[in-house]
Amino acid sequence: MRAPVFRPDRRQLLRLALAAAAGQGLPLEALSQPRWSFDPFGLGVASGSPAPDGMVLWTRLVAPGAFDSLGAAPVPVRWELAHDEAFARIARRGETLASADLAHSVHVEVQGLEPDRWYFYRFIAGGVASPVGRTRTLPAPDAAAGRLRLAYASCQRWEHGYYAAYRHMRAEDVDLVLFLGDYIYEYPNATAAVRNFPTLATVITLADYRDRHAMHRSDPSLQAMHATCPWILTWDDHEVQNDYAGLLPGTGGPMDIGGAPDFAARRNAAYQAYYEHMPLRASAFVRAMSPGVSHEVRLYEQYRWGRLADVLMLDSRQFRDAQVCGHPQHRSGLVDPATCEALMDPARTYLGAGQERWLDGALARGAGAWSVIGQQTLFGRRDNRPGPGARLWNDGWDGYGAARRRVTDSLQKHRVRNPVMLGGDVHENWVGHIKADYDRPDSPSLGTEFCGTSISSRSAYGATAPQRLADNPHFVFAEGTRRGYGVCEFTPSGLTTTLRVLDDATRQDARIETLARFVVQPGRPVVEKA
Ligand SMILES: [Fe+2]
Repeated sequence: MRAPVFRPDRRQLLRLALAAAAGQGLPLEALSQPRWSFDPFGLGVASGSPAPDGMVLWTRLVAPGAFDSLGAAPVPVRWELAHDEAFARIARRGETLASADLAHSVHVEVQGLEPDRWYFYRFIAGGVASPVGRTRTLPAPDAAAGRLRLAYASCQRWEHGYYAAYRHMRAEDVDLVLFLGDYIYEYPNATAAVRNFPTLATVITLADYRDRHAMHRSDPSLQAMHATCPWILTWDDHEVQNDYAGLLPGTGGPMDIGGAPDFAARRNAAYQAYYEHMPLRASAFVRAMSPGVSHEVRLYEQYRWGRLADVLMLDSRQFRDAQVCGHPQHRSGLVDPATCEALMDPARTYLGAGQERWLDGALARGAGAWSVIGQQTLFGRRDNRPGPGARLWNDGWDGYGAARRRVTDSLQKHRVRNPVMLGGDVHENWVGHIKADYDRPDSPSLGTEFCGTSISSRSAYGATAPQRLADNPHFVFAEGTRRGYGVCEFTPSGLTTTLRVLDDATRQDARIETLARFVVQPGRPVVEKA
């Protein structure tokens, strides 16, 4: 279908270009607003990258029925941020341009707000107002914040189920969502799909990745959760390709082991589409301007919730070394540590040298009573073979044992207060203790770990989780058949983590229940079942 397209005239574009070149704010009257007969806000609104004085407000304009169809012209978009939902008391407003080269996405970086406050925001384009989103600022860095309540979630494969989890998450009264990877999946439609998507193919090009993101974001429950509070996001492999490592392809499925012929181009496409669809700062997208150079997206970051908590987000995909001792072509697999010395090779990195240095510094600077580390996957060692002998999954931290050891060494060296590791990826709930040395069960516990189940993605071996738990004594709880999310409530006197699970993720009307609840006291790295 051909979408109605707004075209500003050349004089309007020239004025905008001159104003932008002169470093001025965009003149509000520079472009008369187009008039549309359709709703361009079909992907909803979102906010993220919160700071004590602001955040990023996001939307992307699309025409109905076609996700990438607004034409080549930039479109002016007004935005408003208010103290109240009726927009009677406006705190900030402005205008920006949604340009075609970033898929008409909008990333507004609001500044100058009060710390520790909730706000409401909306966009207006073509005479149409967007849905209203709610967002908030962080407490001031030195404030004695009394509570941080966050949800952590990951792995939302479209065809494996509905996003009923997000419908329930809206009622959890959280300040933040930590999304820990696999926001989209790059595969063709799954067998036994609960809901199909229109394109059956593996996503490869920029247009493919844009469509796949837009399709996920068309889900009303996911949109509603994005509009409820700011999200802090990191990614895992499926935002690009299964089990990729840095600039090395993984596998897109049995049909194309070895990956697309030009993986660097594919990764660039995936990275750009990711930036376009997430509430990230413009500085987070480092765009390659010459051939042979790759885009980077800066996702690792430190957020301070007053003096109550530091929240660190990590990226273990973009800068990692190759997996070792696995499949001869795509490298990943279950590995016997007794026959794979390279697993513990100190020269290998999981975060990249730059992020490792940054993490060590961030842990040294951390001032919060709780030190929350959001990252992609299970942090603790997990032997997947019941009984004698061990089998470790080489694509996670277990495949990069020396790199993990450098993190636990930093936790000890800087006497990091109450570390809490949050993860995803495994489509199972695992709860346990961060160990100084995972090969020595009697080594000290340094903190606690909650690795969450998936929003919708199936688990292949979930039913065997309790069996595998027995071989991994630093974990205290494992359950792999239920989909959902976790909620952590941090206060000066303790952490309560509640594992929330759906009765059936293949149903839109799925109900939620509590699978288990755990408490941790400050100064005592022990998980106790409540
Ligand atoms: Fe996943």
